[in-house]
Amino acid sequence: MGDFQPPQTDIITLSRHVLNEGFKMANQKQVTGEFTLLLNSLQTTCKVIEDLVRKARLNNMTGVAGAQNVQGEDQKKLDVISNEVMVNALVASGQSAVLVSEEEEEAIIVSDRRAAETGKYCLVFDPLDGSSNIDAGVNVGTIFGIYQVQPGSSGSIKDVLRPGREMVAAGYCMYGSSANIVLSTGTGVDGFTLDNSIGEFILTHPKIQIPPRGQIYSINEGNAMYYHPPITKYLDSIKFPEPPKKPYSARYIGSMVADVHRTLLYGGIFCYPADKKSTKGKLRMLYEAFPMAFLAEQAGGLATTGEKRVLDVVPTTIHERCPIFLGSREDVQDLLSFFKE
Ligand code: AHG
Ligand code: MN
Ligand code: MN
Repeated sequence: MGDFQPPQTDIITLSRHVLNEGFKMANQKQVTGEFTLLLNSLQTTCKVIEDLVRKARLNNMTGVAGAQNVQGEDQKKLDVISNEVMVNALVASGQSAVLVSEEEEEAIIVSDRRAAETGKYCLVFDPLDGSSNIDAGVNVGTIFGIYQVQPGSSGSIKDVLRPGREMVAAGYCMYGSSANIVLSTGTGVDGFTLDNSIGEFILTHPKIQIPPRGQIYSINEGNAMYYHPPITKYLDSIKFPEPPKKPYSARYIGSMVADVHRTLLYGGIFCYPADKKSTKGKLRMLYEAFPMAFLAEQAGGLATTGEKRVLDVVPTTIHERCPIFLGSREDVQDLLSFFKE
């Protein structure tokens, strides 16, 4: 009897949280609910994609689709369908003006597709990140960043060719042992877990803070022969430290969403550097590096290209790549000291 735990009666759903944040951001001004509507569309797409991912093996949705995306990578069936789900929902929401997707060569100007009035938000997204891991049942995810159209614009590519620091929100949904949305609207980072029995994302990780230092490094060391000296020297420093320091553990999933999720919760450093083979790195600035850098900073960590703050880089094309190192503040600062040498 003494152990009786009454059921939670004050549950914070993602929708409730977003509405509350809206009230805070608006500072007593009128809240239109437009951002809440946008986020509702987005979380619905995450639920649909999570369902598709979970049933992929049963529904013959594994494997390649037979086409390549603009980066010349084979599209998986789930890449293609996740993209369609997102584009359809975001256009229909009435809240979007410009969409940039990893799987679409050109930016989608929503007014070209929708006769009714369009919204004031621009979404940049990677519908399914980590697609090489899908067929093995390893964690994958959806990454997104949100800009507002600039004053006087009705939505053009210029509204998204802006530094990441101008995003109004960013986040991801990770499809793992549970589905988790991690979101920042610029006032910290909060994590939500999908409760499948009620179909709602529930606040389970309020105000996520990256530990100031971690004990894990995350990088594709199969590329070591192509690394530039600062990376090699930094990795040596954490693998062969002066006693009594202990060497770091290596963890690399190969799905950015999952590697960053672990880094936010446990600390440490995630790296996708530029090297002699990939001279600008691999990850895409707008819909991979910027949203994750936004979250890392909002959680008290750092995100750098090695040369500058990731969020200060100005993209010139929508599918541009950039190097990225993010995670615990002290770990990223240690890495930067090797770039300064
Ligand atoms: P995507 O599946 O959207 O193309 O992204 C894959 C990315 C990212 O998730 C991961 O961090 C990185 O590719 C892994 O690349 P390597 O296989 O080169 O390590
Ligand atoms: Mn990706
Ligand atoms: Mn992808």
